[in-house]
Amino acid sequence: MKGGLFRKKGIDSLIAATKGEKSLRRDLGSFDLTMLGIGAIIGTGIFVLTGTGALTAGPGLVLSFVIAAFACLFAALAYAEFASTVPVSGSVYTYTYATLGELMAFIIGWDLILEYSLAVSTVSAGWSGYFQSFLNGIGIQLPVELTAAPGAIKGTVTYFNLPAFLIVILITFLLYLGIRESKRVNNIMVVIKILVVFVFIAAAVMYVKPANWQPFMPFGFTGVFNAAALVFFAFIGFDAVASAAEETKNPSRNLPRGIVYSLLVCTVLYVVVSAIMTGVVPFMQFKGIDHPVSLVLQVTGQNWAAGIIDVGAILGMTTVMLVMLYGQTRVMFAMSRDGLVPRALSKVHPKHKTPYINTWFFGILSALMGGFVPLDELAKLVNIGTLSAFILISIAVIVMRKTQPDLPRAFRCPAVPLVPILAVLFCGFLILNLGGETIMRFLIWLVIGLAVYFLYSRKHSKLGQTENDS
Ligand code: ALA
Repeated sequence: MKGGLFRKKGIDSLIAATKGEKSLRRDLGSFDLTMLGIGAIIGTGIFVLTGTGALTAGPGLVLSFVIAAFACLFAALAYAEFASTVPVSGSVYTYTYATLGELMAFIIGWDLILEYSLAVSTVSAGWSGYFQSFLNGIGIQLPVELTAAPGAIKGTVTYFNLPAFLIVILITFLLYLGIRESKRVNNIMVVIKILVVFVFIAAAVMYVKPANWQPFMPFGFTGVFNAAALVFFAFIGFDAVASAAEETKNPSRNLPRGIVYSLLVCTVLYVVVSAIMTGVVPFMQFKGIDHPVSLVLQVTGQNWAAGIIDVGAILGMTTVMLVMLYGQTRVMFAMSRDGLVPRALSKVHPKHKTPYINTWFFGILSALMGGFVPLDELAKLVNIGTLSAFILISIAVIVMRKTQPDLPRAFRCPAVPLVPILAVLFCGFLILNLGGETIMRFLIWLVIGLAVYFLYSRKHSKLGQTENDS
């Protein structure tokens, strides 16, 4: 097998592969992409994990968000360069194929399953919590056995998280119908989500007592760093924008804009929201609370506003799942088109023009995991999968500047290699703060991936077959 593990796709052939029979419809602009990004970003991270984050870091949670944001910003700049140079479906997977070769590309695609599919499952559990609290508010109580995954609530027998399962199935159906419908739903929900965050800021800001910010870092920098590794989850999603390249109008201009704008908006919102949360409520009060943002408003006696937050959180998390599942199906679409996973996953529906087998496969998988698996630890796995992807893309930027210096780049990452190196350092540091157990589970996942690559993908690779024929 010539070329072997490091065989690379040419940029021209990548772009050529997007034309022809297996092609998707291009109808997203930079505004849509920013909305897509915000749709993916603001969700469980801010609505649920801020509580755990505040318990880990104290009011220093604000710093944790800033640290996580820097890691994302450096990685986003690297992403943006690739997104504007190789505007094809599959995001970081495809970019890695063109720069670091097939094996690394496969590994990155394998990592992205952790990022996207498990994130959908994680968020569906957070969604289910807020949805049940909303149902309780209007006097509806689900049978307790169907409210959570087995073992998720200590001392209570639960079998299945039914709301989490059903919401993912509904989202899968929307994506099966096609991006046009999904985009419209997404845009409306994103606007509501941002308004809800503003409602929170406006309703809570006058209740801030600066005394609650003292001590600022009760658990020192260790607490702040550990919380940063956790709330990194809150930023995951902006890279899903890059996965939409093949359905974007003028991708070389619109993609970088979509990524950077959506990241900036979210960072500002997170810092403000977490400062207000820890300023209004002494952080220890977040213990055991799965709706920390609305709790803050309940504490201030504004139950009407707390209700609005509940609804906003439900909608907000819905868009996150929509974009994450979208990203997952498009990465698999690209891998399948390349022959690294079975061809059925790139079959396009004749009427809806969507990769329908792929969409249902990952939709049902994510729905089942959300229904059956308790998700605290899974959130960390999502983080480690994503951070590894960021590290690889940052390295790839440096490699590509050396190997393909003359390639036209609509967007250039500033200060190469400094910025990509900073991305590697920040992301690596966050990985170390996730703890040994998560790192071990991730390594096991990688070993399984390598087995799949050597037993299946290597033989079925389209690029490999072309090389053998020539
Ligand atoms: N960033 C997304 C969230 O917070 C994954 O839910």
